[in-house]
Amino acid sequence: MEANFDQTGKGRRVRRLGVETPATGNPRDMEGMVVAITGAGSGIGRGLAEYFAERGSAVAAFDVDTDGLEETGAHVEQSGVDCFRVPLDVSDAQATQKAIADAIAELRHIDALFANAGVIGPSDFLASTPEEWSRVMNVNVLGVVNSCHAVIPHMMERRRGRIVATASYNAFRAGPHVIPYRVSKAGVMMLVRSLSLVMGPYGVTVNAISPGVTMTPMQRHHAQRTAEESGVTLEEYLAERTAKIPMQHLTEIQDVNAIAGFLVSEEARLITGQSIAPDGGVFASS
Ligand SMILES: NC(=O)c1ccc[n+]([C@@H]2O[C@H](COP(=O)([O-])OP(=O)(O)OC[C@H]3O[C@@H](n4cnc5c(N)ncnc54)[C@H](O)[C@@H]3O)[C@@H](O)[C@H]2O)c1
Repeated sequence: MEANFDQTGKGRRVRRLGVETPATGNPRDMEGMVVAITGAGSGIGRGLAEYFAERGSAVAAFDVDTDGLEETGAHVEQSGVDCFRVPLDVSDAQATQKAIADAIAELRHIDALFANAGVIGPSDFLASTPEEWSRVMNVNVLGVVNSCHAVIPHMMERRRGRIVATASYNAFRAGPHVIPYRVSKAGVMMLVRSLSLVMGPYGVTVNAISPGVTMTPMQRHHAQRTAEESGVTLEEYLAERTAKIPMQHLTEIQDVNAIAGFLVSEEARLITGQSIAPDGGVFASS
């Protein structure tokens, strides 16, 4: 597949998808990269897709929500790059293997995997059911495992690649609510740290981004639910949460994107097994 790019601008690449011919020497140049993003149909995943597309990366987008996926695909294509989209439930190992293989066949390679799909699950520990626990673990932990399993042989063979999981400040912070979610994100962090040891010799870094409270559809739904339970308005609840953040600011999608752009860059080649947290100091204060 020949990509449709401006080949005349100074400093731009003359290239086809999947062929690395850096022309700028800029270590943060994302043009011509291929990024795979799970949970790309909404929130942080969609933000990542748009961010990379605007910088000339082709996107392989996966989500269980087909409408959201289509919407993301349309946004990405507005940037003039390819968006290969596959409806996918990441908790299904076989389907994930096939989806990633199809993306590699279509886009020639994957430079970076963002294992980002996640669900928040039940808030009340005592009322939480085994089925709810299974769902949270299957999506948030096994989903990352499945995505990594699917892409790792490819990255090992190329001896390059970036894996970035979306963890959370809740991976590090104990609390009485959303305990399955906290446990799952702590699991993601241990997976990231351990996998970095496996992948290091292959030149592949494995990291996590741990955003603070980011007003995505997931967070808005959670905040609304918690506000109702506490008998306050959503605005009052958010003001209270914001006041507890050292920098008095919620995380925005652009804060997550900035870390993502750095982690895939050449500059971050020795950063692995870590979590970088655009959280305004929430982790520091826990
Ligand atoms: N929003 C926050 O405050 C926040 C903070 C820290 C971490 N996170 C994490 O960021 C990631 C993205 O969350 P978000 O806030 O953008 O939420 P979101 O609900 O807006 O987006 C999550 C996306 O994942 C998809 N998804 C859910 N289950 C899936 C499955 N089984 N297979 C494939 N896709 C699936 C959903 O359809 C949705 O499109 C999650 O892992 C979440 O835990 C979010």
